[in-house]
Formats: sequence, C-alpha cells, structure tokens
Amino acid sequence: MTTTHSAPGKIYLFGEHAVVYGKRAIASAINLRTTVTVRESARMTIASLLGTTGIDYAVHPYISRCIESLSVPAVSIKIDSEIPVGSGLGSSAAAVIATLGALNSEFDLGMSCTAIAEAGHAIEREVQGAASPTDTFVSTMGGTIMITPGASPPVSAKLRLIDCDIVIGDTREFSSTKELVGDVGVLHERYPVIMNPIFDTIDCFSEIGVPLIEKGDYRGVGELMNINHGLLDAIGVGSAKLSRLVYVARDAGAWGAKITGAGGGGCIVALARGVAADSVVQAISDSGGHAIATSASEEGVAAW
Ligand code: PMV
Repeated sequence: MTTTHSAPGKIYLFGEHAVVYGKRAIASAINLRTTVTVRESARMTIASLLGTTGIDYAVHPYISRCIESLSVPAVSIKIDSEIPVGSGLGSSAAAVIATLGALNSEFDLGMSCTAIAEAGHAIEREVQGAASPTDTFVSTMGGTIMITPGASPPVSAKLRLIDCDIVIGDTREFSSTKELVGDVGVLHERYPVIMNPIFDTIDCFSEIGVPLIEKGDYRGVGELMNINHGLLDAIGVGSAKLSRLVYVARDAGAWGAKITGAGGGGCIVALARGVAADSVVQAISDSGGHAIATSASEEGVAAW
C-alpha cells in the first residue's frame, strides 16, 4: 500500500525563546507544506533532498527516529518539502508530523492527533535536545494557536486564523536552534535578573495579542511584533541581515516585522495586506533576502 500525508510549517507571531522557559507563545501554521509518501518495501529507505539512506541518524535523524519509535516494518519513505530547511519555519517538525501521520495511517496505528503531536515533540527533544512543543503541535493541529508549554496538552487555544498576507524574508543563513537556545541559556544563567523580566514581558504579548487577533486588528498585532523583535535583539538572537530585512519590511508598509524562530540567521516574518504586501516582497528581494509570500493555514496534518 502507499500512503501520503502532508503537514505545514509555521511562523511565530510572539514568544520564541521565552516559550523554552515556560512562557506562552502564539504561532500559526502557514501554507508551505512537507509531503511524505510511505510505501511498502522489502528494504528500509528514506529519500529527501539530503539524499537516499536507510535508517541513518547522520543524514535523516528525525525520520530515522520516527521509524524506530513506532517500530514499524520496512517501508520506503519519500519526503518533498516547500519549507526552507533550518530557517525557523519548522521544517523538521513538518517532516516528523507528516511521517508520523503517514505511518499511522499505513499501519493503522490508531494514534489521535494529540498522540501524533506528543510523539513528534518527544522525537524533536530526543534529536535536538531542548524543544518547545510549538512546532510539532502547530504542524499537527494547523491554525493560529496559543501555546502554553506547561499545560497538557500545551495547545490552550485555537484563535481566529490570521487572515492577512504573511511575508517571510529568508536571510538564507543557516542557524542552529540548539546553539541559539544554548546561547540564550548562558545569558539567562549569567543575568537572571535581566533575562527573567524580558521573558515575562514576552509572555504578555500572547495575552495582549489574543483580542487583537480575534478582532483582526493587524496594526495592533504588528505593533506588538515590533516590540517582540526588539526584545529578541536584546537577548542576542538578532543579526545585521535579520535587522535589515525587518526594517525594509516595515519601511515598505508592513504592520509589523520580526525574527521568527530561533534567529541568528533564518527568517523574519512580516504582516501586511494587498499592495503593501507586494511592496514588502519587493523590498526584501531588493535587499538580498529571499521573499516568500504566504498565508496562514487552518489545515494541520492531513492525508495528501
Ligand atoms: O527556529 P525554530 O523554528 O526551530 O524555532 C525555535 C524556537 C525556540 O523557541 C527558540 C525553540 C523552541 O523549541 O521553541
């Protein structure tokens, strides 16, 4: 038999890094997806942009772990993705969740969506060390959602779907989430009195942001994103390229623009609508970034 499932990438409106310290975050699934096809096979193979391997933790750590954690018979797995890798858009989570979804269906494992999201989160933790539940839960459930890390399950609210344009600016500089989380950890250990209030402030964006998202007040959401960006810069995860893309996006008419994800490299996200969104795309391209115009997606992991 053959089974194909896909799962979305995500952007953070608010809360990356602070979410690692138990603070709330709001993220949204986007219309960039990873598709995974599973086929019965005599031999175990994993094929992606990275190459074709068997179970191989050096090349395909996430997918190898998915297969081993479910103890399924040999299959061939093919991964196709629209999500740039290692850029803060949740490419690894989308691959994990689409793989778990496809294996669940191929072998009738009876896993619920929550079980898939939890298994995905455990796999991300095992492979990369610290990982918040954000990427795996958003990729499983879809939509614009509030993450409360301590709660069980950590998705405390599905919010009104963001319904303006989402423009991503990719610096095309690879960044390691693990390293950046480590760097922030060093600052946190050295200056807890400074870092804890910053994380508490970042936590407030999610609370104050909810009614703005529910009203569709993207000017307000953008204003909070801009402040959140300043705090990400303050905790050391900015870069000259990221700042440049943030400022050109704002100057081109975005309501708000900030780093999304771990920072250090990777992407920024900007909210705008219509002509302003076109100008933001142009401005990002003109300043050497790779612009991707997308939108929020209600659809999480799904067959095909
Ligand atoms: O860059 P990404 O998409 O892996 O996001 C990292 C977000 C952090 O809050 C820094 C870490 C996490 O696991 O939530």
